[in-house]
Amino acid sequence: MSASPRPEGLKPVPARIASVSVAEAKRPADRPTAAAEGRMTEAAEGREATGPRSRTTADAERRNATAADGHAMQATGGRATLVGCGPGDPDLLTVRAMKAIQAADAILFDALIDPAILDLARPGARRIDVGKRRGRHAMHQTAINALIVRLAREGLHVVRLKGGDPFVFGRGGEELDSLRAAGVAVTVVPGVTAACAAAASLQVPLTHRDVARSVHFVTGHGSDGALPSHDWAALARAGGTIAAYMDSGTLDRLSAALIAAGLDAATPAVAVENASREGERHLFGTVESLAVALATQAFEGPVLVLIGAVVGLANIGAAEVRLAA
Ligand SMILES: C[S@@+](CC[C@H](N)C(=O)[O-])C[C@H]1O[C@@H](n2cnc3c(N)ncnc32)[C@H](O)[C@@H]1O
Repeated sequence: MSASPRPEGLKPVPARIASVSVAEAKRPADRPTAAAEGRMTEAAEGREATGPRSRTTADAERRNATAADGHAMQATGGRATLVGCGPGDPDLLTVRAMKAIQAADAILFDALIDPAILDLARPGARRIDVGKRRGRHAMHQTAINALIVRLAREGLHVVRLKGGDPFVFGRGGEELDSLRAAGVAVTVVPGVTAACAAAASLQVPLTHRDVARSVHFVTGHGSDGALPSHDWAALARAGGTIAAYMDSGTLDRLSAALIAAGLDAATPAVAVENASREGERHLFGTVESLAVALATQAFEGPVLVLIGAVVGLANIGAAEVRLAA
């Protein structure tokens, strides 16, 4: 398949070059402010994280959540809200998300949630860090599910903060399932997903009438860390934009699979690290060259890869991209 033609008047990104922009890093991306650190009143490790439990155990827990539990929940007034916090920049938080945070009695948050977002919570709200932070493991998903249910049963309004959108590779579905089974009233607040934030930073339209008629969100790793077996032929044939949520160095295999399935090796691609966050960086190339180029960069923040002809529409000036010599 060939990359689609570029509409007139839009500057091309040179193919097969790797270009990097390094936005000024004013603050390490994951590092909370001292104020926010002081408010992290509870840490997940060693308390709720009791290690992986079997699927059977999780299923049994769900079965044990009876209708009576549901009635009890209504009596306590406890409830839960799954909130998408966007890709990192607090300005990308929705008004509804902000209101939910301000109304929370207890907040469970992941590592990528900006401290400024936590600062929106009222002083008395409990803040519980369930993410991977400073060398310790994240709380296991089943333990997070159980904790939300337990706090809601105590009558609290529990707000679960998640990066991006809760339902895009965010395990929001698992938490929703658990809350429904336990009879806990739950609402969901959508968030700006990383692909949209990365595209906006680069002024890359994820779809374009002349270039891409579809957009495909794919994950670069399954629960075992390996590259999932996507329908590569369908992705290559679709001619749309592929947004790959990656963090496990599987880009080389993902690119090879797409090319083997028929995607033009010269299809433009870009890796965006820390979209919307301090230290945002971009690395341009092609679906063939990007993985090798990426291996030479010390990208440590979250990385989103966009593949498709639309990447050729990037506004390099707006993205502050410095072309490699
Ligand atoms: C577990 S998924 C969560 C996705 C999230 N629910 C969303 O809608 O964006 C984590 C992956 O999202 C991507 N990601 C999240 N935030 C990002 C950001 N600010 N910049 C680049 N990629 C990001 C990375 O690929 C990261 O490995």
